[in-house]
Amino acid sequence: MKIQVIQGPNLNMLGIREQNIYGPMKLEDIHKQMEAYAKQTNMEIEFFQSNLEGEIVDKIQESLGVADGIIINPAAYTHTSIAIRDAIKAVSLPTIEVHISNIQAREDFRKKSLIAPVCAGTISGFGPFSYHLAMVAMVQILNEIEAMKKAQNSEQK
Ligand code: DQA
Repeated sequence: MKIQVIQGPNLNMLGIREQNIYGPMKLEDIHKQMEAYAKQTNMEIEFFQSNLEGEIVDKIQESLGVADGIIINPAAYTHTSIAIRDAIKAVSLPTIEVHISNIQAREDFRKKSLIAPVCAGTISGFGPFSYHLAMVAMVQILNEIEAMKKAQNSEQK
């Protein structure tokens, strides 16, 4: 099974940007840790980062028929993007929203997520460990879906 990871604008600047909020870890190091967990759990994983809303929408659409689930940190687009929300709804793949910082504990404009209502759940505020928690949740969701499919197939036989 395959997980598509999508990283939004400015997340390529992790390790440089606002270290007091996002910490010192670089995006590639976060991805290495996710990759290691994917290996342990027999998942395939692909990473994508873009600063452009339309490219993120394209990647979500392209995930249909290719990936089984999406882990997305839409970054600033969390609070503004109806297009990303609609794309997630359109592909209807299990999707987990991730934030490094606790968006509920920050400025008022960050408290609202347009993405959250179309996701299986949101993990926010655990630093880079948020991504690991999202992986654990995604593996659980995908295993449950697989088990359900198997049960349905054996009922049909
Ligand atoms: C973020 C939170 C967003 O509000 C912000 O615009 C980001 C990062 C996070 O991971 O904490 O760029 O998504």
